[in-house]
Amino acid sequence: MVALPIARSVAELRAGVAAWRQAGASIALVPTMGALHEGHLALVRRGLELADRVVASVFVNPTQFAPQEDFDRYPRDEAGDAGKLASVGCGLLYAPTVGEMYPEGFCTAITLGGPAEGLCGAFRPQMFGGVALVVTKLLLQAQPDFAIFGEKDYQQLQVIRRLTRDLDIPVRVVGVPTVREADGLAMSSRNKYLTAEERADASELYRTLSETAAALAEGAPAGAILERAMAKLAAARFSKIDYLELRDAETLLPLQRVSRPARLLVAAWLGAVRLIDNLPVEPVLG
Ligand code: PAF
Repeated sequence: MVALPIARSVAELRAGVAAWRQAGASIALVPTMGALHEGHLALVRRGLELADRVVASVFVNPTQFAPQEDFDRYPRDEAGDAGKLASVGCGLLYAPTVGEMYPEGFCTAITLGGPAEGLCGAFRPQMFGGVALVVTKLLLQAQPDFAIFGEKDYQQLQVIRRLTRDLDIPVRVVGVPTVREADGLAMSSRNKYLTAEERADASELYRTLSETAAALAEGAPAGAILERAMAKLAAARFSKIDYLELRDAETLLPLQRVSRPARLLVAAWLGAVRLIDNLPVEPVLG
């Protein structure tokens, strides 16, 4: 297999993208933090369905981690990532340094509202500001036609949709359904942190989420259904549940019952590992 070209600077990225543009190609960007798994490769495959070329970025973005979080130990494997990206037809890897993305004197921030409020926004207050900053930079650097994100991080996806609309960034933001392990656990680079015992317990998250989504789809008030689901997770050794909430699928405003397309979102801890997941909930017609 031919080695995947790697751009380390904005100038190298722009040169690669410009060459594709000159040849008349359309371009999709797949932003990642590396430690790639099947979920990421599904994003590249979707990018190649929509566009002629895909550039993937691998950048563990310091501005979206709080000081006590896992920035330093976040899994990094550039050679492995490059091989996986090449195997599914990605044409360019953009792997900038922290200094390239945030040079000396960098002092700009983005303030968010709407879909960034509550859920993970309440428990990891620095996160979406950092995501917004890095994604805005990546979009301005690569100027792709499409930007592809996983629905696993559904709140992030809605934040980015709102951000690109509000800032008139000319890109089509595309969400790709979550890729799951055989027992339903959503694929995530952080699943590596689970012990064998925690990994076995983790499958209860998807099971509970699926049952709860089915119950909510009938249109009954959400309160009691969500309480039962939280009790079930606690009984299944989830040590802390940050949230289990029903929200409007687009705005992410809280919903009391399912009367329009909704999303059920959860964040819960197994030991020291925080898992997030979500499912669509469509009202049952009839
Ligand atoms: O979802 C991720 O991996 C990251 O939040 C992203 C979008 C690449 C920004 O750093």
